[in-house]
Amino acid sequence: MKRKRIGVLTAGGDTPALNATIYGIVEEANRRDTEVLGLIRGYASLMGEQVPTILLNPLLSTIPELDPCVGGTILGSSRTYVAPDSPEMGRVTENLKRLELDGLICVGGDGTINGMQPLADVTPCVLAPKTIDNDLGLNYADEPNDWRRLNGEETAELQPSRRSIRLEDIVNYATPGFATAVFVVAHSIDRIRTTAESHRRVAIVEVMGRKSGYIALGSAYAQPDIILVPEVPLNLDQLEQEVRRLYEIQHHAVIVVGEGVRLPDGTDLGAAEKSFDPAGNIRFDGAGDALATMLQDRMQDGIFERIRFGEPAKSSFFTRKIGHTQRGGRPVQFDRYYGSQLGGKAVELVAAGDSNQVAMLQYSSKNGFETSSLSANRLRDPWGNIHARTLHPTMYDSERMHLSDFGRAYLQPIFTNAIGWDDVEFTRAETFSPGNLTNRFQSVNVDVAKRIRQL
Ligand code: F6P
Repeated sequence: MKRKRIGVLTAGGDTPALNATIYGIVEEANRRDTEVLGLIRGYASLMGEQVPTILLNPLLSTIPELDPCVGGTILGSSRTYVAPDSPEMGRVTENLKRLELDGLICVGGDGTINGMQPLADVTPCVLAPKTIDNDLGLNYADEPNDWRRLNGEETAELQPSRRSIRLEDIVNYATPGFATAVFVVAHSIDRIRTTAESHRRVAIVEVMGRKSGYIALGSAYAQPDIILVPEVPLNLDQLEQEVRRLYEIQHHAVIVVGEGVRLPDGTDLGAAEKSFDPAGNIRFDGAGDALATMLQDRMQDGIFERIRFGEPAKSSFFTRKIGHTQRGGRPVQFDRYYGSQLGGKAVELVAAGDSNQVAMLQYSSKNGFETSSLSANRLRDPWGNIHARTLHPTMYDSERMHLSDFGRAYLQPIFTNAIGWDDVEFTRAETFSPGNLTNRFQSVNVDVAKRIRQL
């Protein structure tokens, strides 16, 4: 009998947990006597005359290049998507048929799931979730139906019908990649704090997440003084007052700002460009710098000259964009474990003959974390769009400009055991291995390229 064959691709922005998820997929497939073909560079792989692929489990054993403890994706990723009525769809359909797949697992976030929709009409498709932004999922099951289009507008606005939620209501509690991003952010803030303290400066730290404030919320572990999230329009008067108050007392302040933060009139604080994914995502840049300029203009030199012996406001601020370090490097224990569990769950869904389903991670205080699944349709608003999940209003306290009690309750189950001892030991043993001074970096891309076959 012919062995079953599934495909896997990784699309959208990478995360440190992608290899762990692919690993979970391949290990579960080995158990089920199923071949796994890795498609190179996301949906782009399906658009050429030939499809670049790697057999990830020859003779049902996982290839050694696939290491769940290494960040990124050995399959490569792209933000290339195919629209259902585009001219490329014919080629994609033909290629999918040629691959003779029993199912395709797309590892990705909201852009990837939107991009998966036309493919699901050709081949059974399942999504294994990933995104550092933690924005794939819902605050409560009925949330997609709470999007409203006002005055016949094209764009929709979320009007949450649930004023409070329970942790158990959250659909897809956390996505692999998020915990590592928060780990990186918390470390960076620890380091920023002491230099801000020493030099009596105001540090503004810009973190990723687009229009979702989860990474900013998670930064609370490093105890920043103020957290600003994209979900709550910036109140500059309140912010200036609080920075002045803190600066008088502690002679420095640390402010975390989510990159997608907005002014009350809806304008983005940083520059925003359109990105290429079908979820309509935007690329943000510069919210931290813009905020620093605004605060300098408002606060003027007086308070800084007094406390910093004559130094002006301009040199009393510094901004630090944590940037792509949030997405790279070794995944922490939570992401490795649940990334591979969700990969395994996706294989189970494909084997059960499901299509257009999403593997999900649920939480309950009784059972802890468990994998489950949901039809992608349950994520759609009445017009068929899948939106990025934003913080539920109860997770943030806008009076304190910090996380709320419920925000704290939300983070605790993820981070109580998220970091393994090896995540910390790694720096000592691997980063400062004496061999690193003599050996060049060996990129996995070189070995993987030798395994690529054009089908
Ligand atoms: O969606 C993940 C993410 O890292 C966002 O947090 C960020 O805004 C964006 O991707 C950056 O994308 P790129 O790598 O294309 O600049």
